[in-house]
Amino acid sequence: MPATDPRLPDTIRCFAPAKINLTLHVTGQRADGYHLLDSLVMFADVGDQLHLTPGPRLALQVTGPFAAGVPTDERNLVWQAAELAGWRGRIDLEKHLPHGGGIGGGSADAGAVLRALNWSQSAVSLGADVPVCHYGQAAWMSGIGDQVTPAANVPAFHAVLVNPRRPVGTPAVFERLARKDNAPMQPAPQGSEATDWIAWLRAQRNDLGAAAQAVAPVIAEVLKALDQTEAVLLTRMSGSGATCFGLYPTEAAAQAAARVLSDTHPDWWSVATVLR
Ligand code: C5P
Repeated sequence: MPATDPRLPDTIRCFAPAKINLTLHVTGQRADGYHLLDSLVMFADVGDQLHLTPGPRLALQVTGPFAAGVPTDERNLVWQAAELAGWRGRIDLEKHLPHGGGIGGGSADAGAVLRALNWSQSAVSLGADVPVCHYGQAAWMSGIGDQVTPAANVPAFHAVLVNPRRPVGTPAVFERLARKDNAPMQPAPQGSEATDWIAWLRAQRNDLGAAAQAVAPVIAEVLKALDQTEAVLLTRMSGSGATCFGLYPTEAAAQAAARVLSDTHPDWWSVATVLR
């Protein structure tokens, strides 16, 4: 085994799934500027891979298709997560998700590290998306992201994620927000019937949509392209963008839509996945 291979016997492997906001309502703003959110969050089966190998000091190596531009020092949230949990060693992070894309990015990675290290206290100090990514399963998210409640009866959804490879800064989107006192989500279905959930989802929103499109007009093109795919049940942006998703009735429909989007927009990142 080469000396650089991180997969030593005590190496912990962990998976950082993409975080998708199926809804994202902005219901207020705190005195410190942070916004109050009301969101249903689910997780995809695509994500980043991490290997943690205990050692005398923290070190971070980033590889993979989206490694470019990812910091390898204390600016990286995985570094901060390891420090928060009092862990030292080498972190090998394989980036498969576009960052600055509204699907977790560094928060997903930090959440995975905290899960792997069995951290059980709050991690909101690392960022508003970190607590839900730390939980890592379908959840209701509120407060500024610090309140996370399991969403046990949401069915799994076949989905396609599309990112136009245009990073969007979250603060820029919040700054352009016209209204900060929107209605919270309506009461969700009690059961697990997919048709009930789709109908309910259609009546909810992502309140960051218009502001994100002002920052990155390509988001409107992504939504239009998703809307034109066959059998699509719902399209929406995740987080502060630019990643958008479509929901589909079957795996075959999601796979077909992802193929069409990859063919028509080869410069975009398009993947079929399951949200749970
Ligand atoms: O907490 P995090 O670093 O992920 O947030 C990035 C930025 O997004 C914050 O600096 C803030 O401008 C904005 N934000 C917000 N309200 C939230 C979450 C994020 O205003 N609940």
